Amino acid sequence: MDKIRVVGGIPLNGRVEISGAKNAALPAMAASLLTEDTVHLENLPYVRDVLTTRNLLLDMGVEAELKEDGTADLKAAEVRSFQAPYELVKTMRASILVLGPLIGRFRKARVSLPGGCAIGARPINLHLMGLERMGAKCDVVHGYVEASTQGLHGAYIMMDTVTVTGTENLMMAATLAEGQTVLDNAACEPEVSDLADLLRGMGAHIEGDGTRTIRIRGAKKLHGCRHRIIPDRIEAGTFAVAAAITRGDVEVGNCQPRQLTAVLTQLSQTGAEVVMGSNFFRVRGRDSIVSKNVTTYPYPAFPTDMQAQYMALMTQGNGSAVITETIFENRFMHAQEMIRMGADIVIDGRQAVVRGGRPLTGARVLASDLRASASLVLAALVAKGETWIDRVYHLDRGYYHIEEKLAALGANIERVR
Ligand code: EPU
Repeated sequence: MDKIRVVGGIPLNGRVEISGAKNAALPAMAASLLTEDTVHLENLPYVRDVLTTRNLLLDMGVEAELKEDGTADLKAAEVRSFQAPYELVKTMRASILVLGPLIGRFRKARVSLPGGCAIGARPINLHLMGLERMGAKCDVVHGYVEASTQGLHGAYIMMDTVTVTGTENLMMAATLAEGQTVLDNAACEPEVSDLADLLRGMGAHIEGDGTRTIRIRGAKKLHGCRHRIIPDRIEAGTFAVAAAITRGDVEVGNCQPRQLTAVLTQLSQTGAEVVMGSNFFRVRGRDSIVSKNVTTYPYPAFPTDMQAQYMALMTQGNGSAVITETIFENRFMHAQEMIRMGADIVIDGRQAVVRGGRPLTGARVLASDLRASASLVLAALVAKGETWIDRVYHLDRGYYHIEEKLAALGANIERVR
């Protein structure tokens, strides 16, 4: 199994280009199930979750051609299976994103129920509640959600928790339902708006994406289109922290800094110098890193997907910082590994108290999920000596060639196969 070896202590310098957003790519690929025409996607990140989604679509009979340059042609003209099997769902929970398009267009779907994962229980009750309000019957049988309908109709759907893939699934299903659907307390994440843009390109009638209330007027049929996936704001944020934590100077290109306002504001409060352009930003780290509390919330607030990386930064802070995780109940697995590198972190339920000022030292550490792995790479970049990060397949799920991008900025990092 691949490992990543890092020797810390080098300030990063230079410019890095950001890849397409994994969490926008996955729903976009699932949306190709809504039409028999070809959906042409560009700027897909060639990461493992995207490959898994391609395999899932192939398994259903979709013609799915994906190239390493980030383009894909997806044509769901002859879908023969309406199922997402356990073997695929257990490796990627986002497989649940085929549920909405399948029930919307084919009126039936069988999708393995995703279990809990390394960051929490992660139920899908709101996806199912919404589909039932639109006229689907959803049963859980032998570990699978079996959904069927005589035809979906519009509905008013109030989600009591903000859910990103739940909003995306219901928005996709509603594009082919009869009448109007209103999704209330919807997720405002840029990835939801990117999906709405794609669906509009396919002929769907959607308004209000990017706000808490999304209105969808069902169409009889959708058609093919071309769509470019937005840049990955979490990858961009990860490089921003890499610059700050190593006291480097990095320009992060091909991104949308406005989608990172909460992260970049937080970073500047820790003392880093942040300059925002229209499609790039620059972060210059300062010797003294100020410890600042943070709480994760849905967009536009500070994202849970940046919490682990921010924790790595706070291990180098000048005081104590309280990090509060409100989205997932078990998303502090990286803390135990950082403690093995010398960090002083105390976890109490959904809060972590990070006392900074402790020099980190290289160690052998285990990645437990995607963002945890990224945070360990960041910690390793400032640790004294050599760090070995195991189970890097988590990293490969969502970061395209991260070690090459970091090495190009001067980091001493390599993948050992
Ligand atoms: N929730 C429910 N019921 C539901 C759905 C969600 O109670 O039916 C709860 C969850 O348990 C959680 C909260 O709602 O406490 C938010 O979960 P959400 O549904 O928004 O998460 P998700 O859609 O499964 C996406 C991203 C995650 C990201 C979260 C939060 C994709 C493919 N995944 O997950 O990305 O952390 O939103 O922003 O878009 C990652 O990229 O590393 C990652 C985990």
